[in-house]
Amino acid sequence: MFLTTENLTKDFGDVQAVLDVNLEIDRGEFVSIMGPSGSGKTTLLTLLGALDTPSSGEVFIEGEPLSGIKDVDLFRSKKVGFVFQFHNLISYLNALENVEIPMHGPMSGTERRARAIELLELVGLGERVYHNPSQLSGGERQRVAVARALVNDPALVLADEPTGELDSKTSIEIIQLMKKINKEKGTTFIVVTHDPEVAKKAEKIIFLKNGTIARQEAVKSESVEDVLALRNSAFGQQLIEKKATDPYMENLGVFKGGTLTKEGEAVLSVLEKAEAIERD
Ligand SMILES: Nc1ncnc2c1ncn2[C@@H]1O[C@H](COP(=O)(O)OP(=O)(O)OP(=O)(O)O)[C@@H](O)[C@H]1O
Ligand SMILES: [Mg+2]
Repeated sequence: MFLTTENLTKDFGDVQAVLDVNLEIDRGEFVSIMGPSGSGKTTLLTLLGALDTPSSGEVFIEGEPLSGIKDVDLFRSKKVGFVFQFHNLISYLNALENVEIPMHGPMSGTERRARAIELLELVGLGERVYHNPSQLSGGERQRVAVARALVNDPALVLADEPTGELDSKTSIEIIQLMKKINKEKGTTFIVVTHDPEVAKKAEKIIFLKNGTIARQEAVKSESVEDVLALRNSAFGQQLIEKKATDPYMENLGVFKGGTLTKEGEAVLSVLEKAEAIERD
């Protein structure tokens, strides 16, 4: 297991922000965290990223307890990338310079520049490297923030409402970008979000309530969701009822002379399989 917590708890005076949380997250998993305001999402992320220390309990990354790490700053800069709701870019630096800031390790100026350009290209901003944050759109600024989070090739990226300030289309683009990085690099992502459409792009959703895990939900694959949508469409309904009310069903080749063709039967069986998955 890549990341686990054991009875992780954080109190602020008499407020129990995080209470007895036991998590298990695999390497390369893409997890989202949802929950009402004040349910402890941000606090949990700060504990997982060693930005704060728990009141009790422990976080283990690759089996190592965070409490045992001597140089926490070094650990964080090497292992964890952060993305926040407000991109936190420095306004008087351009995209390239913003991405270069957290670079860790002995690198020449040329190497830094090359690495920053490579990451900005990865997030689709190869044409915007000399733009200041004020010359970028909200979505572009978040892309720079994602590139910056990746500079040290972290094993873990923690994002706190990274799409909170974006419209729904741009939000999905940012989350798709994170998923691309997750797939290509195997980076583990934990993303806090209020947006169910964003949360659904993860493999697993963890719901927090009053600092504890209320429930966890595996997200169905997008392909299965697509087939279920097809089942609920006019097209799917005619197949299921084996009755073509739309003459174009014949043109599509799924009906002939009012009865299902072989192709129609094949599509129907896929729809039925998706339905069976949904019932599980
Ligand atoms: N530094 C702090 N001092 C005192 N109380 C705090 C502190 N940080 C958080 N809290 C309290 O802990 C609880 C959890 O806060 P947290 O910020 O983790 O919630 P959240 O789920 O991220 O909420 P939101 O969706 O509004 O961002 C809240 O009741 C909050 O008031
Ligand atoms: Mg928060």
